[in-house]
Amino acid sequence: MIGRLNHVALAVRDIGKASAIYRDILGAEVSQPMAQPDHGVTTVFITLPNTKIELLEPLGEASPIARFLERNPDGGMHHICYEVDDIAAAGNALQAAGVRLLGNGGPKIGAHGKPVLFLHPKDVSGALIELEQV
Ligand code: CO
Repeated sequence: MIGRLNHVALAVRDIGKASAIYRDILGAEVSQPMAQPDHGVTTVFITLPNTKIELLEPLGEASPIARFLERNPDGGMHHICYEVDDIAAAGNALQAAGVRLLGNGGPKIGAHGKPVLFLHPKDVSGALIELEQV
């Protein structure tokens, strides 16, 4: 079902500071911040030779990462995103296997303009998983 690792997402309090660490200290290619009010986050993408890192900073009152940062005040790994060919088929197969899907259970358009699903961390070994149809 799952294919390539699309990205690893890190929740951060200060995306400018985190971007500077990746750009100036770790020497990576870092995008400009992009506000995504529909998703309650500001994102930065860091392009690595084999995958991407997504930095997420909360945006607005109802940000989905606000609670994560309350529990992890210094930031931390928020989710891993794997690529799938057919998101609807993946969602159905996962539900049939007893894996809970977050939200209304159906795919929605994610922060990168592609259909995504999030899998309940407790059902998939502890880390939040995002599936993205590519
Ligand atoms: Co993501």
